[in-house]
Amino acid sequence: MQKLLIKGKRKLSGKISISGSKNATLPILAASILAEQVKLSNVPLVKDIFTMTDLLKFIGLKVKVEKKKNLIELTNYKKKINTLAPYKLVKTMRAGVLVLGSILTKYKKAKVSLPGGCAIGTRPVDLHLFALKKLGAKIKIKDGYILADAKKGLKGTKIRFPSISVGATENAILAAFNAKGETILSNCAIEPEIQDLITFLNKLGGKIKIFGRKIIIKRQRFLRKNINHRIIFDRIEAGTYLVAGILAGGKIKINDVKPRILKCEIDILKKMGAKIKIGKSSIEVKKNKVLKKLNISTKPYPGFPTDLQAQLMVLMTQAEGLSKIKENIFENRFMHVPELKRMGAKIEIKNKTAFIFGPTKLTGAEVMATDLRASVSLVLAGLVAENRTILNRIYHLDRGYESLENKLKNCKAKIKRY
Ligand code: UD1
Repeated sequence: MQKLLIKGKRKLSGKISISGSKNATLPILAASILAEQVKLSNVPLVKDIFTMTDLLKFIGLKVKVEKKKNLIELTNYKKKINTLAPYKLVKTMRAGVLVLGSILTKYKKAKVSLPGGCAIGTRPVDLHLFALKKLGAKIKIKDGYILADAKKGLKGTKIRFPSISVGATENAILAAFNAKGETILSNCAIEPEIQDLITFLNKLGGKIKIFGRKIIIKRQRFLRKNINHRIIFDRIEAGTYLVAGILAGGKIKINDVKPRILKCEIDILKKMGAKIKIGKSSIEVKKNKVLKKLNISTKPYPGFPTDLQAQLMVLMTQAEGLSKIKENIFENRFMHVPELKRMGAKIEIKNKTAFIFGPTKLTGAEVMATDLRASVSLVLAGLVAENRTILNRIYHLDRGYESLENKLKNCKAKIKRY
């Protein structure tokens, strides 16, 4: 199994081009089932995307990937497809369950494996099913599969989510796309990736509008035959490299971003004392001699994202005083903490809150991670630690970070896969 070797304490400097968002591409790929011909650009070539395209091929779509151009073309001219999403293709990536809404609304039935839990929490799909039932689907759970049926088609209605979920909002939008009449979703997630999905569906011919946390979907009848869509930038990747620059810059400039989407992250980094220069589509940061402590909580967008919690925690190990992070989204998302402690961090956890005492000197160690964002936090720690850090189980990183080593190497980091 491959590992990453990082030699720490190198001053980083250079430019990093931010890739397209994995979490936007996945629901848009699921939405492509609704279309005839789609061309997606700025697609990040990471493992989760290939898991999704394998699932779409299994279902019956034609998929052509042009790796050099980060392009994916999809075609679905079929009246009949395989309405099954099997366990082997959903178990490694929860977003597989997003095909449920598209298949059900277009083909009136679907059989999709339950994704099961994962390292960061139990992660049920009850809110996805709640929305589909409200739209008129009959749902049964049998042998680990969701069996969904809507013989007469789905019907628009008013749905208020009892709590905010990114995936459930996406599945509901996809299902409502073909539902009769009008659907009004409230208490929705409104992450930029969901907004990108809506832009895509509107290009396809949809009539979808967002008002605060309310999303209104009117059935469309005429679909465009050919659509092109450029995937939005990955705000989590952008945030990760901003933290890297503040930890270990010289100067790091990230390009191909929309700074207004990163407002919450930029505000938090500034509160910690970071010096940030904002351009039209770029952000530049450099290492700060002194970083200030801060208390934050993870929240749905536009709040601070849970997907950047582990990375910010590494920054807090270098801040003066006691910082606190409350994790409100997932119940088990502090798995990186024992590994950071092995590198010298002083962190305590009480219930949902991590208490980070800083500044601490980090030293390299052999570490391993249990999920995508935890893995990258250990890479960040390795960049500022003394000596060498060896990161195991890097398949987690490969699920979501495109060309991580090359992007860091271009900024003078000593990092090697072996
Ligand atoms: C998406 C992101 C993930 C991010 C998360 C929160 C993708 C592919 N993944 O995951 O990177 O960390 O949003 O920003 O976009 N919940 C329920 N019942 C449900 C669904 C969710 O109780 O039916 C709970 C979850 O357990 C969790 C919370 O709601 O505690 C939020 O999860 P959700 O927003 O659905 O996350 P995902 O869509 O799975």
